[in-house]
Amino acid sequence: MTADDVTASKELGHEAFGNPRPGGGRVAGEFPAPGTTTWGTFDDEHLVAKATARHDASFWHGREVATCGIAGVAVAAEHRGRGLLRGVLAEALAEHGQAVSTLFPTAPGIYRSLGYEVVGSLDHVDLPTAALASVRAPAGTTVRRATAADLPAVDAAYARWAVTRNGPLTRTAACFSAGGGERLAEVSGVTLAEDDDGVVGYAAWTRGPGYGPAARLDVDDLVTLTPDAARALWRVLGSFASVAGTVRLRTSGDHPARLVLPSSTWAAVERRPYMARVHPSALGSLTAGPDDDVALSLRVAGDPLGVLDGSWALEVRPGGSAVARVTDDDRLPTLTPQGLALAYAGTLPAVDLRAGGHLVGGDERTDAALDRLLRRRAPAVLDYF
Ligand SMILES: CC(C)(COP(=O)(O)OP(=O)(O)OC[C@H]1O[C@@H](n2cnc3c(N)ncnc32)[C@H](O)[C@@H]1OP(=O)(O)O)[C@@H](O)C(=O)NCCC(=O)NCCS
Repeated sequence: MTADDVTASKELGHEAFGNPRPGGGRVAGEFPAPGTTTWGTFDDEHLVAKATARHDASFWHGREVATCGIAGVAVAAEHRGRGLLRGVLAEALAEHGQAVSTLFPTAPGIYRSLGYEVVGSLDHVDLPTAALASVRAPAGTTVRRATAADLPAVDAAYARWAVTRNGPLTRTAACFSAGGGERLAEVSGVTLAEDDDGVVGYAAWTRGPGYGPAARLDVDDLVTLTPDAARALWRVLGSFASVAGTVRLRTSGDHPARLVLPSSTWAAVERRPYMARVHPSALGSLTAGPDDDVALSLRVAGDPLGVLDGSWALEVRPGGSAVARVTDDDRLPTLTPQGLALAYAGTLPAVDLRAGGHLVGGDERTDAALDRLLRRRAPAVLDYF
């Protein structure tokens, strides 16, 4: 779709998601937004289905991997149930030719039949602010408010955390275009934790309205690279106890900063599932550990888009990894597309993939190899799109 389709796209976005209607004197943002492509299906020149592909990048297995983020998926009410979704998604994925595609579904069932599976989630948890104030003081880690000059160090701390997980966006693609001043203006403050090595953590927080037990402090990012950084930042957040009863943290999976909390309260108030569809070629960028010397052949079967199916030979050796398509062999351990996504993300071990019907064939040796290669990092994502 082009700039000429902006009104039709926004009308469909209004209908599906309750976004503001176009017009009414509002200035429409750039369309398509920077770093994105929007695909539409037209019926008699009327837009009836759309999907936006974000040309993004995320960290998987210690590497930056090009990622097709799918957003804004909608089919006009009277045209639903005719399979129009498949057409726009297939176009978006084909344009990308990329190894990994991810999305936040409104319902996972919409995307399962297109080879996606829920591999993680973006969570919001509530913590009583007073409990954070009682965290033991760290030795040798200090805090201060970040300025625009500190943003490169903040980004470096984020990247140091993100590269240790499967799934976090790199935040460097064109879809992340906000400049330094703008980024700081989006929050009330960014607090840095520093030790002799420099920035070892930060919290980006926004003060909600009012004060008292019902007031809230929202923490969008809490990155802690050392236990003392976690202690220092929890204590800063805890210092709001007299004016904001709750700290709401945006997080994903198990947060290491939780390990230094004396209180066990970690109340999930919102959970947004994150789905992935993975092309087997993504296995070629696995990071080899010093003792890895693994050759494993796998098969993928059941992709409704017909792209992922086939047999693949994977080699992971100290010098690097490689994957190549080989002659299809139905005696190989066989993953569904969803099973491949769950395995690649490190979400489930082979034994659970079998129990869920996503892995058949192979044996204990191939299961152990899969787990050894793919379960080294936990899935996580901090950015909603
Ligand atoms: C979701 C939406 C795009 C689906 O479009 P559609 O043309 O109805 O899709 P289809 O009928 O081709 O169904 C595709 C799959 O989604 C499933 N599906 C559709 N709506 C669903 C729902 N609400 N919950 C779970 N699964 C659903 C169908 O069962 C089908 O799965 P199957 O292939 O395994 O049978 C459309 O209903 C819509 O625009 N909804 C409002 C906006 C929205 O939720 N967008 C998704 C944003 S992530």
